[in-house]
Amino acid sequence: MDRFEILGGVPLRGEVTVGGAKNAALPMLAATLLAEGPCRLVGVPDLRDIRTMLRILEQLGVEATRRDDGSIETRVVDTEPVQAPYELVKTMRASICVLGPLLGARGRAEVSFPGGCVIGPRPIDLHLAGLERLGATVEVEAGYIHVREGDAGEFREIYLGGPFGPTVTGTFNVLAAAVRTPGTTVIQSAACEPEVVDVARFLVAMGADIEGIGSPTLIVRGVERLSGTTYRVIPDRIEAGTLLCAGAMTYGDVTVRGCDPATLTAPLAILERMGVAVERVDAEALRVRGGSRPQPVDIVTLPYPGFPTDLQAQFMALLSVAEGNSFVTEKIYPERFINVAELQRMGARIRKEGPTAIVSGVDALSGCHVMASDLRASAALVVAGLAARGETIVERVYHIDRGYERIEEKLSALGGRIRRTNPERAAAEVAGASLT
Ligand code: EPU
Repeated sequence: MDRFEILGGVPLRGEVTVGGAKNAALPMLAATLLAEGPCRLVGVPDLRDIRTMLRILEQLGVEATRRDDGSIETRVVDTEPVQAPYELVKTMRASICVLGPLLGARGRAEVSFPGGCVIGPRPIDLHLAGLERLGATVEVEAGYIHVREGDAGEFREIYLGGPFGPTVTGTFNVLAAAVRTPGTTVIQSAACEPEVVDVARFLVAMGADIEGIGSPTLIVRGVERLSGTTYRVIPDRIEAGTLLCAGAMTYGDVTVRGCDPATLTAPLAILERMGVAVERVDAEALRVRGGSRPQPVDIVTLPYPGFPTDLQAQFMALLSVAEGNSFVTEKIYPERFINVAELQRMGARIRKEGPTAIVSGVDALSGCHVMASDLRASAALVVAGLAARGETIVERVYHIDRGYERIEEKLSALGGRIRRTNPERAAAEVAGASLT
């Protein structure tokens, strides 16, 4: 298995460009099931999760080709298949995003029920209740969700709020089915994350009729057909936030280009409260300069425009070297703290009390062997490793590859001493060489 070997303590310096947003590109690719003509998505990052989605689409009769410029072209060649199988769904929860588009396009869907997740319970009850309000029948049989279209009359209102706020992929699934459901659908408590907004705009570019995009109330009037279109995916705000953390924690000077500062208001406000200097260079670039140890702050993760749960672990790494005590509270995934134990191994002083982690800053972390266990927790370990004294080895970086494209190349270009190695492969090569 690949791992990262990081020699920490080197300030990152220079410019880096973020890629397209994974969490916008995944549902957008799923939405291409609805298109009657070819679609071209520009700026889709080359990630493990994206490749998984392309394999699911292939099983569902969609041909997808990646062009040299990074865009992906899709074309529906077979409208019969409706099944997303266990073998693929079990590797990526975002596979659930084909549920709504399949129902909207083909009137039927069979999607393997997503299983457990290391970041805590991730139910899909709101997705299914929403589709039922659209007139669909929903049954769970032999590990699969079977959904079939029905009659919903001319008007329906759907509430998507749950105990932890609105659901991001649930909003997408209901929206993707509603755009093809006759009559009017009013979605209340819709998620307002920039990725949801981007996908809604993509649907509109395909011919959907959606009012209120970006607000918690979406009014959708069903249309008979959606056509193919060309669309550029928004920049990844979580990748941008991760790189800003790395710049700040290594006391470096990093300009993050190709990002959208407007989608990073909460993380930027928190950095400001920490005393970390972040300059808006222009409409698409931010420059972070880390001079001294950050000041402690309290962070509460919340639905957008609140502080994103997907940056909680990276900011916790940064707070682990702050000058005092910080409180980090998870309001989206109260159990999303798998990063804590590994950061503790690096010398961080963190105490967990329910959904809150109390982080008592230390002068510096010290490098050691750590294990990646989910995408964002792993990103936090890389950020911590770049800043720590000595060598950090991050095992199982396939988790990072799910959501960060060539992260080690981007960090190396900033002067970070990070390299990808694979001890098993190296040992096999040595053994092979000694046989010849
Ligand atoms: N929830 C319910 N019922 C539902 C759905 C969700 O109670 O039917 C709860 C969840 O348990 C959670 C909260 O609502 O407590 C929010 O979950 P949501 O459905 O919004 O999460 P998601 O759509 O499954 C997306 C991102 C996640 C990101 C969350 C929150 C994608 C593909 N995934 O997940 O991204 O953390 O929204 O912003 O868009 C990541 O990229 O690392 C990642 C985990």
